[in-house]
This record gives sequence, structure tokens and C-alpha cells, in this order.
Amino acid sequence: MLLRLNNINKAFGSGQPGQIKQVLRDISMEIDQGENLAFLGPSGSGKSTLLNIIGTLDKPDSGDLFFEGRNIIEYSEDQLATFRNRQIGFIFQAHHLLPQCSVLENILVPTLPLRDSKFKKERYARALELIKEVDLWEHRDKLPGTLSGGECQRVAVIRALINEPKLLLADEPTGSLDRKNAMGIISLLLKLNKELNTSLIVVTHSMEIGSKMTNTYDLVDGQLVLSNSPS
Ligand SMILES: Nc1ncnc2c1ncn2[C@@H]1O[C@H](COP(=O)(O)OP(=O)(O)OP(=O)(O)O)[C@@H](O)[C@H]1O
Ligand SMILES: [Mg+2]
Repeated sequence: MLLRLNNINKAFGSGQPGQIKQVLRDISMEIDQGENLAFLGPSGSGKSTLLNIIGTLDKPDSGDLFFEGRNIIEYSEDQLATFRNRQIGFIFQAHHLLPQCSVLENILVPTLPLRDSKFKKERYARALELIKEVDLWEHRDKLPGTLSGGECQRVAVIRALINEPKLLLADEPTGSLDRKNAMGIISLLLKLNKELNTSLIVVTHSMEIGSKMTNTYDLVDGQLVLSNSPS
């Protein structure tokens, strides 16, 4: 098992004085190494909140989060920053590439804090391999502003995977793409999920994308409901 959530709760102020909205209620689940799954649910149901808690970008009000058996809720901010950089890859709806850096430079950004120079060198070689694998070779020295949305999102996928994280979190990764490019990104994510044995969680509104995943969970009233499982 890679990740275990134990009774995760999260509430936000509702905007009305004194009122709070319970977004996540006692969520418990386990994710295995290499598993892929989707979180579905209507807008405002708490999908991003849950993904951000799993990615340690946000903290739950209560509950525990075990990553390879260690309770990462207890980590300091410094420990969390190192942990995130090495173990978790993020992809968002907008690609958030640095506009002044080339495709290759963008992909190498997560390797900048690495101290192990051998591993760093390996990452460079890996970046070139992955750029070829996703058909971006002739674009490697270009700026993101000169690429299409689908091409930029492929760069973002490689950047998220460059340090070979154990967990890849994607929040509406295809939300700004047309259907063809969207399904291309999902196929790429699933291919890399298989090849690298990286666990993959995708947040999506799309039933079609959900149907490509091994497991699909609906967020209903702050709780996760398994809505399909492998037959
Ligand atoms: N930082 C915050 N402060 C206050 N309320 C918040 C905050 N973040 C999220 N919320 C509220 O929590 C609820 C869940 O938000 P969340 O972004 O997780 O939904 P979502 O399922 O990702 O929606 P969408 O599909 O639109 O992205 C919403 O009601 C939202 O307004
Ligand atoms: Mg969201």
C-alpha cells in the first residue's frame, strides 16, 4: 500500500458569519502503488480539496495521512516541501509552465533543488527520453507560448514525472483541451502509470475519462463512494 487516508475531515467558512461548510467527512481510503483511479462529483463537492490534502498542499482539520507507513501530517513545512518534490507529481487544468523558459528547461525545474548530482544527471537524460516519447523532440528548445494547449499539457505531464514520484495527482488535467487532445493526455497518463508503476489520481467531470480508470469514486455529501470497480 502506498497511501492511506484515515478519517479525513475538512470544513471551510461558508461566507455567512458563524457558518461552516463541512466539505470532507471522515474520508478513509487506501491507494496501492501503481493503482489508477478517478474522483468524480459535481462542482463544489470537494474533489480539489481532497486532492490538495492528499498532495499535502492543504491540511485536513483532523485525520491522518500515511505515505508508505509514515504519518505525513506530522511533517514540518520543510520536510513536506522535500517530500512533495520527490514523491508527488502535480498536473493542473492550466499547465503553469514558465513562459520565459524552454520546454526542456520547464521539465527540469523540479530537478533544481535535487542535491544528488548523479540522480540529477539521470533526470536530464530521462527528460530527453520522455520528450521523444511524447513527440515533443522538435519543440524542446521552444517557449511554451509557441506551443498548442495539448503540447503544453504534455510538457506539464513530463515535468510532473521527471523526479519519478510515486504518486501523480491530476486536477482536471484535460479541462482546457478539446476531446481528442483530452483523451490523448489521459492515454499518456495511463501509459506512464503502467510503465513507471506511478499511482495516479485524476479529478474529472468526465464520465468518459472516469471509465478509463480502474476505480472511480464519487464524492457525495463529503464522502467517497466507490462507483465502479474492476470486473
Ligand atoms: N480556501 C477555501 N476557503 C473557503 N472555501 C473553500 C476553500 N476551498 C474550497 N472551498 C469550498 O469548498 C467546497 C469544495 O471546493 P472544491 O474546490 O474542493 O470543489 P471541487 O469539487 O473541486 O469543484 P470544481 O469541480 O468546481 O473544481 C466549495 O464549496 C468551495 O467553495
Ligand atoms: Mg476542483
